[in-house]
Amino acid sequence: MQELFGLKGKRVLITGGGQGMGEASARLLASLGADLAILDIELERAERVCAEVRQKGVSAYALSADVTDEAQIVAAVAKVEKEFGPLDGLVMIVGMAGWAPLAEMSAETWDRDHSRNLRHVFLTSREVAKGMLARGSGRIVCIASIDGIRSAAHHGAYGAAKAGVVHLVKTMAAEWSPHGIRVNCVAPGGIVTPRIPLGSPEEERARIAPYVPMARRGTVEDIGKAVTFFLSDMSDYVTGQTLAVDGGFLATGGFGPPPVVSGQGTLGLDP
Ligand SMILES: NC(=O)c1ccc[n+]([C@@H]2O[C@H](COP(=O)([O-])OP(=O)(O)OC[C@H]3O[C@@H](n4cnc5c(N)ncnc54)[C@H](O)[C@@H]3O)[C@@H](O)[C@H]2O)c1
Repeated sequence: MQELFGLKGKRVLITGGGQGMGEASARLLASLGADLAILDIELERAERVCAEVRQKGVSAYALSADVTDEAQIVAAVAKVEKEFGPLDGLVMIVGMAGWAPLAEMSAETWDRDHSRNLRHVFLTSREVAKGMLARGSGRIVCIASIDGIRSAAHHGAYGAAKAGVVHLVKTMAAEWSPHGIRVNCVAPGGIVTPRIPLGSPEEERARIAPYVPMARRGTVEDIGKAVTFFLSDMSDYVTGQTLAVDGGFLATGGFGPPPVVSGQGTLGLDP
């Protein structure tokens, strides 16, 4: 079964891999035999994940860097490739949303959301792609958001940055896939994470069921599985794509299952 994924012995760098979605991806990739470099701004987090995945028999390399700083990205990628080895895969997890109405948003807020959601995806991909292009193979996975696909009030900077990630993935695929590099993207819906933990079953259902057909938030493992799909041979003919992992949120336009009223369509209007 492991052979189907083709990940055994592959070297994968996960930026923001020290907790949550990155940690879940690391666990799954390690169980399929991938060796992992875990980069996080919090070194202890990266070291903890490395210690855990080493118990699965793979090599793991922890390092700290701030991906909003170009010089730190350049140095970190060079260090990983020198000390850990040439990279077969890259996963970029780092991202965070600021809330602000557009009419009150400062240029600093706009720039910060673009720096921590979009700019580092370009810079890290650029640095890692240099080696991949020279070797003629590689797999890159970005994390966007449902907010980069549909709009959300007060998420203007974040949404534009994540939409930028979705578009950048297509351009990277156009430029690099002729040279053996596949580039894809996962767009999470609402996910239970260390920053946004699980409420009581009643709270979760009341909050989520009106909008999400599967009536639950996703788990970090749900995201790890999609990341693994894109890194593995299971997606051999897929590039430039964004996969929403959202329990069906976008499929219903973000409104969830409509109330069923016999003889009437959504909002009480017959189609
Ligand atoms: N949580 C959700 O519901 C949700 C929904 C849609 C999209 N997303 C996206 O998923 C991704 C992960 O979100 P999360 O909330 O699980 O992340 P998180 O807060 O768990 O952060 C992931 C890791 O990134 C590290 N990190 C933060 N800033 C960094 C920096 N500048 N340099 C290096 N490392 C840094 C953190 O230390 C942390 O270990 C983001 O891109 C986010 O936009 C999340």
